[in-house]
Amino acid sequence: MPSSNLRHIHYRGMVYDGRQACLCIIRGSAAQNKTEQAPMTESRRRNENSMNFKVKNDTFLRALLRQPTEYTPLWMMRQAGRYLPEYCATRKRAGSFLNLCKSPDLATEVTLQPLERFPLDAAILFSDILTVPDAMGLGLYFSEGEGPKFERPLNTEAAIKALRVPDIGTDLKYVTDAVSQIRKALDGSVPLIGFTGSPWTLACYMVEGASSSEYTKVKTLMYKEPKLMHHILSVTADAVTAYLNAQIEAGAQAVMIFDSWGGALSHAAYHQFSLPYMQRIVQGLKREHDGVKVPSIVFTKGGGLWIESIADIGCDAVGLDWTMDIGVARQKVGHKVALQGNLDPNVLFATPEVIRDEVEKILTSYGYGGGHVFNLGHGISQYTDPDNAAALVQAVHELSKKYH
Ligand code: CP3
Repeated sequence: MPSSNLRHIHYRGMVYDGRQACLCIIRGSAAQNKTEQAPMTESRRRNENSMNFKVKNDTFLRALLRQPTEYTPLWMMRQAGRYLPEYCATRKRAGSFLNLCKSPDLATEVTLQPLERFPLDAAILFSDILTVPDAMGLGLYFSEGEGPKFERPLNTEAAIKALRVPDIGTDLKYVTDAVSQIRKALDGSVPLIGFTGSPWTLACYMVEGASSSEYTKVKTLMYKEPKLMHHILSVTADAVTAYLNAQIEAGAQAVMIFDSWGGALSHAAYHQFSLPYMQRIVQGLKREHDGVKVPSIVFTKGGGLWIESIADIGCDAVGLDWTMDIGVARQKVGHKVALQGNLDPNVLFATPEVIRDEVEKILTSYGYGGGHVFNLGHGISQYTDPDNAAALVQAVHELSKKYH
């Protein structure tokens, strides 16, 4: 573990111990808010109080709800993964990636690994979006170096018509067990994010049977047999709504929908085949658990052009990839939703100085006030030097204070 992560770092109004995500907000040093914030209603005050009671560092949850924070919180998409040697060691012990996902003990272990290295502001459940189609009977497997595959892809009308919502309580119990176990292990240090793939993104894998760069099969189905496509999307939307609600019941404190391949669609097709199903999910979500709001984040990779429509579906935050200026995004939708993003993950291949400069550009562009969760615009690459990830975390925490 790099020595830089062992230091205790003191910031204005907070102290954190770099080995653990045990950031404690010192009360009485609330940030001066320089922009408009949502009004302090009685229910908001209650909500904030119960959040503080449950999570020591609730900066991430506050930012998602566009409440004042003392700095810009961050986490990294795919923060638990192959760029960490300790992840590779656990995966080796598990024998395969799927064994990791299916063992709540090992999923807990790898979820916590990035938090042991870096003072991140949120944990994300270690799992995969493809667990849902697997539970729907498609037979997920990973062949070395080739990514995910399905033994029984949806390649006939009969297979599509036979698609059913799985029994979340049994077929995906290993995920909800992992959520409860991770919540216990986090012991209130930082919030836990649950997630799902969007129906469109899951359908890409279910119909193609594997990763694809052209999406020929799934788009052929969409254009030639739109009713069948809508059937897949509809059943999948019901499945993932139940799946996210089960994660919330088990202890997920925020949820995110990954629409990784939404950006492959035309404007018209996105508004017909991806966005409405995400809206249906968001509308079907439990909004609160134990009296505390559970914010939702919707991330369409390549969705910058549609940010206004995304902000209108009822989610609390919109994830951005690196192609859009976050300041422009804020002007368009910042009065409705929080924004999450949006550093190009390839910046992490440069030096700590360059990382700092690029972080500063995003923070400056976003400007003053809450409502921003810093993140990468897509998952961290397996070839990233963990020290550069540490430099990113430090830069965001240090440089963002002046904007709050
Ligand atoms: O962010 C996190 O740390 C949580 C874990 C997480 C994983 N996958 C672990 C994983 C999350 C949130 C996902 C989501 C996911 N999975 C998405 C949406 C996000 C995105 O990247 O766009 C997608 C499209 C998938 C499907 C998937 N899973 C693919 C295409 C691959 C292979 C790609 C690769 O990097 O090899 C996976 C495997 C996968 N999921 C790995 C991890 C850590 C690598 C598995 C390994 O150890 O070999």
